[in-house]
Amino acid sequence: MTAPAQAQGGAPSAGTSVPAAIRSLFSGSLAGGLVQLRRALHQHPELSLAETETARRLATALTDVAGLPRADVRLVGTAVIGRVRGRQPGAPVVALRGDIDALPIQEATGLPFASQVPGVMHACGHDVHATWAVGAAALLAAAPAPGDVVIVLQPAEEIDRGAAAVLDAGVLDGVAAIFGGHVDRRFAVGQVVADDGPLAASADTFTIELVGHGAHAARPQESADPVVGAGALIVAAQAIVARRVHPATPAVLTIATLHAGTANNIIPDRAVLTGTIRTVDPATRRLVREELERMAGAIATAYRLEARITVELGPPPLVNPHQPAEWARQAVRTVLGDRALAPLGIVNLAAEDFARYLERMPGCFLRIGAREPGGDPIAAHSPHFTAAEESIFVGAAVLAETARVSSQAYLAAQAAK
Ligand code: NI
Repeated sequence: MTAPAQAQGGAPSAGTSVPAAIRSLFSGSLAGGLVQLRRALHQHPELSLAETETARRLATALTDVAGLPRADVRLVGTAVIGRVRGRQPGAPVVALRGDIDALPIQEATGLPFASQVPGVMHACGHDVHATWAVGAAALLAAAPAPGDVVIVLQPAEEIDRGAAAVLDAGVLDGVAAIFGGHVDRRFAVGQVVADDGPLAASADTFTIELVGHGAHAARPQESADPVVGAGALIVAAQAIVARRVHPATPAVLTIATLHAGTANNIIPDRAVLTGTIRTVDPATRRLVREELERMAGAIATAYRLEARITVELGPPPLVNPHQPAEWARQAVRTVLGDRALAPLGIVNLAAEDFARYLERMPGCFLRIGAREPGGDPIAAHSPHFTAAEESIFVGAAVLAETARVSSQAYLAAQAAK
């Protein structure tokens, strides 16, 4: 599929789904600069932790497109951190985050600005997320929040390394709250989801090694067969979600790989299973992990094997707290009107490393509609995925206004003390 045609670097074309109220926030040159930036990012995607050109391009955009002083833009690894000055020195500081990395996918969109890098593609819309952050910086520079706004252009979201690195670098020390969003083609351009509660899942991975002892395949009585044990464990593990998790609570336990053996006449010593656990609340996350450990141990005992299980904790569930989500909804109403707010509906069990920030500070993560009129709800991480160009303006305007609303609320709370 192709995006609506638009003059290279031109202002948003007429007849699109972005309300005139939003369009009027962007001068022709700002709109053109943002469209050009997004297309350039899309054409030159870089994988996680290799975003050097992307970071350079974004640092330049923060000064040249958003108008920030050079001294207020810095690189931290392949992250770019900007600071938009507020109206009142000493007022509470909030942050806006846009992720910037691409995926190892061969693009098949046919877009005129499709990836020029074989096998690498912005298939998750991070080209647009980065452009939102630059656009929001421009709008905030023109109409500042009470406090400073830290612009976080974050690398390595796809491998769950970027948010942790930004936090470890101390970039967000003293920041009161953080906001960000993701493009979503299930929603039309102009619709925004800013629900309280779960928005993305935890993603923990596990490896289970079943160790027995091998034998000739014709003399099974001399073995402790890990292949039979693995089969029993795969079947038994299905009962964890089916019989231990509350039926109204989303959870996934997938055993995705099983490796054992070398030849059809040898019982091997060991079998290795790997998989993923997805949940949207901490209690279910712990329950599924503990049940899997218990079951692996019990099955191993039953089959005279030893189970060695390791669980690698990925991002936690992303759960929007009420108050920051309410500030985001207020911003959406101001910028787009009451009817723009859409309910999330069924929770997506993909993970999002923005959840790492919410472990440390309040905030809200939005889903921002990115389907052009008449377009299909293509899923992210597909070679056909692209966010509608007009979603650039919605995301930038909503995030800028969310920063103003939350900053104002923190200032009011500070004054009330
Ligand atoms: Ni993404």
